[in-house]
Amino acid sequence: NYRRLLKYSVASIVLACAAPQAWAQGKQVTITHSSATNSHWGVAALEFEKVVEALSKNKYNVVVQRLDNEREAVESVQLGSQECALGSTGPVGNFVPDIRVLDVPFLFRDYAHARGVLDSEVGDKLLEKFKARGMIGMVWMENGFRHLTTGKKEVQSPSDVRGMKIRTMENQVHMEAWKAAGVLPTPMAFSELPSALQQGTVDGQENPIPVILAGNFDQLQKYLYLTSHVYSPGVLVCGLDFWNGLSAEDKKIFQDAAKASVKANRSRVEEDERSGVQELRRRGMEVREVTNREAYQEAMKTAVANFEKQFGADVLKTLREWR
Ligand code: PAF
Repeated sequence: NYRRLLKYSVASIVLACAAPQAWAQGKQVTITHSSATNSHWGVAALEFEKVVEALSKNKYNVVVQRLDNEREAVESVQLGSQECALGSTGPVGNFVPDIRVLDVPFLFRDYAHARGVLDSEVGDKLLEKFKARGMIGMVWMENGFRHLTTGKKEVQSPSDVRGMKIRTMENQVHMEAWKAAGVLPTPMAFSELPSALQQGTVDGQENPIPVILAGNFDQLQKYLYLTSHVYSPGVLVCGLDFWNGLSAEDKKIFQDAAKASVKANRSRVEEDERSGVQELRRRGMEVREVTNREAYQEAMKTAVANFEKQFGADVLKTLREWR
């Protein structure tokens, strides 16, 4: 942390007095993520920075920036205005439609199941699809299982969500699933969510524990329901032109850094899952265990029937039954 502080302090002093390039010794590589520094995304980005700089002996100067709009981040990577981004796959299906299959609700039993699929040849094949869209899918990461939160109105069962405005990610599969449950899905970038909750434009939202914790959602929402209705994968992407410009040796450095970044990300998710609910209760959130998850599954079943047609019933069965 001291090294980081020093790096950015020196950078800003020099930037103020000299030409921007004067201080930067390494080639700048920008990576963005969408959460606090002290979060499952923040620690992953810092690990990426640390490993790239160490292995390349500072040939690369990795600059970590926060960008809460994940769609914008992916667009910038695709256009080459930033080198890499990491975050949830929420809006990524709009760029690489094949990966939408991973967004189907109630697809994965638990973290081991989801990681098993992502780390297998199924995950590798899906990462390959990024190339045709001008990006390299470096590694699968993890946002976590998503849970519903609401402000004023308490939800006892899925029938209570009918007619509620729930913010979703800009993700067609999620929107369709919530619509089937009678919700008015309201997609928006994460950057717009706090004000939408404060102003009552939406009645609730859904996100994993690491996001609810790091984003201090206890200050924005009264109730948290442990619905685990869908697993939210993450991905680290880099621009194809950037990638093609690297030597084989440097590619290996970025790949090793990406792997280290996944480790940091997953272990932070695990830590947040272990202590997060208790912490949110301590901060005053009313947390409801959900004993009727099947009822949510039932409420979304017409959408899931459509997903079976869209992605193939056999494909979804294989993913669901993965051991
Ligand atoms: O809800 C979202 O948009 C995502 O889960 C978030 C918070 C940007 C984390 O990746």
